[in-house]
Amino acid sequence: MSFRRPHLLGLAGLEAGEIGDLLDQAETWWEAAGTPGWRAEPTPAIERLSVVNLILEPSTRTRCSFEIAEQRLGVEHLSLRDEGLSLIKGETMLDTGRTLRAMRANVFVIRHPEVGAPARLAEELPGVHVINAGDGTGEHPTQGLLDLLVLRRRWGNLEGRRIVIVGDVLHSRVARSAVHGLHAFGATTVLCGPRHLLPEVGGWPGATAADDLDTALETTDAVMTLRIQRERFAAGEALPDRAAYRQRFGLTRERVARLSAETLILHPGRFNREVEIDGEVID
Ligand code: CP
Repeated sequence: MSFRRPHLLGLAGLEAGEIGDLLDQAETWWEAAGTPGWRAEPTPAIERLSVVNLILEPSTRTRCSFEIAEQRLGVEHLSLRDEGLSLIKGETMLDTGRTLRAMRANVFVIRHPEVGAPARLAEELPGVHVINAGDGTGEHPTQGLLDLLVLRRRWGNLEGRRIVIVGDVLHSRVARSAVHGLHAFGATTVLCGPRHLLPEVGGWPGATAADDLDTALETTDAVMTLRIQRERFAAGEALPDRAAYRQRFGLTRERVARLSAETLILHPGRFNREVEIDGEVID
């Protein structure tokens, strides 16, 4: 089944065939588009695009990935961040979107601190395509696609695979997108972390919860570590002690030494070295 939707707002609700189609398209670009200086041949479809990257929350990896992809594909684009935008003078996101649409922008890549902001833009701004580049604790579908692509390239098939996701899962849009995407391909996930940083697994298909990382790692095919998202804690909410957290939930070099050589390690960034993952493991 091809991906024919007007927007990419999340991986929840997408069929395996639709996600597979996006991954297949990504495969065709893997070598060439990863080469500095490479430029795609112009096509009418590409020449019709005018992309705005509306980055309203800090981002290094996602913003740069989109900008580099747009440059290499030869797509007209501009990147806007919240500093310098009229949003800080009280203009709404929707009015900003309408203004940019009037300038004939027709694709919005949006990172936003609020869950559902990309969906609202898609609903209220007819005629444009919206790509969610991360909305609060909601979803991060392009990170999810990247993780799925990496795993599919290594394993060929994700059916029956088991992935441990460890850390602040409650606040993680990366984990949510990964769980939905992995479930679509028949993989299961184990969500591991301090109890108060784990969600109710009811809304997380194919996921179970665990609080002992060492047991969870015994039979896993891959492990994804997540940082503690301090910025999403409520005022006054206690942060875990860093040393205690590392001891229970950190992907330390000792834990990695006990993994099988085939176990894959993923981290969406940014890293807190010697907390959720040891610097030596990253390097
Ligand atoms: N993985 C990720 O979303 O990183 P950034 O927040 O730096 O974009």
